[in-house]
Amino acid sequence: MSRYVVVADVSSLPPGKGRTVEVGGRRFALWNLDGEFHAIDDACPHRGGPLGAGVLENGSVFCPLHGWEFDIRTGSCLSNSSRPVASHPTKVEAGQVWIGLPG
Ligand code: FES
Repeated sequence: MSRYVVVADVSSLPPGKGRTVEVGGRRFALWNLDGEFHAIDDACPHRGGPLGAGVLENGSVFCPLHGWEFDIRTGSCLSNSSRPVASHPTKVEAGQVWIGLPG
């Protein structure tokens, strides 16, 4: 069961845009992929680069530090399959983007 929290106004993240958001001391990379919002853990498992500040291309976000590639929909790492990041459910309600947190 997830507990949803508001993290952004829908209008603040047009398609193709993303950023790092912080909720309860945790940081998430939130991206708008063709009108659908996706959230993964923000810290790159290589050396902690902020995935919310990366570059989005064809459904992948590229880490801004050394370019590791992650599928924004699943968190899988296409550069190193043994180093995925967690992905988190999102929803849009009342003009806001919400992220579902465990518990
Ligand atoms: S910190 Fe992300 S690729 Fe190095």
